Amino acid sequence: MPKIPVKVVTWDDVTNWTLKVAEKIKEQNYQADIIIAIARGGMVPARLLADYLGVLDVLSIKVEHWVTTAGATPEAKIKYPYTLNLSGKRVIIMDDIADTGDSFILAKRFVEENFRPEEIKTASMQVIKPTSKYVPDFFGDCVNEWAWFMYPWNYWEDMINLTKKIIEEIKRVPSVEELEKMFKESYGITTPPVSLDKILEEMKRRKNI
Ligand code: ADE
Repeated sequence: MPKIPVKVVTWDDVTNWTLKVAEKIKEQNYQADIIIAIARGGMVPARLLADYLGVLDVLSIKVEHWVTTAGATPEAKIKYPYTLNLSGKRVIIMDDIADTGDSFILAKRFVEENFRPEEIKTASMQVIKPTSKYVPDFFGDCVNEWAWFMYPWNYWEDMINLTKKIIEEIKRVPSVEELEKMFKESYGITTPPVSLDKILEEMKRRKNI
């Protein structure tokens, strides 16, 4: 059985961590004109941060993680690159989590070169200290042990992917009861945020199973 530490994140966690980011930015008196969300994970946190700071302009760039060779670490790339003139503007690049730090390293360089703003600061809700090569200027929560954080905007996608891993391992579709047991054993999830019968039903609709 695959063993992956998974932590279910609630909307309250999201609110608390994002508010903390906002507090730190206000403490430093950084006056941002524009927030740039790293899609997709940074979109909800960026929108909340914009509300807390009173920033009206929220843009987005999509960072993709390409697996080049089997088992190799994925390479970060900007999907749909574009140019913009942000001269004189102060920006914040926002993501949900700095895990490897690759998205931030890439996004910051991309924004510097293609948008040319006056100043760039980076922010994330969470940073995983032992794994991230990059620490954002502002973050809400510092994590000391790697885990997969299941964010509320990704419950269905994550639950489906975790179910797929189990199916690959056991080479058949389990019953809801078996799946519940396996979610506990493999992922430490005792109360799934979406019921597992709904997940199996959706996987059928998507023709995953
Ligand atoms: N995206 C990249 N790393 C992640 C993690 N550890 N948890 C949730 N989302 C992520």
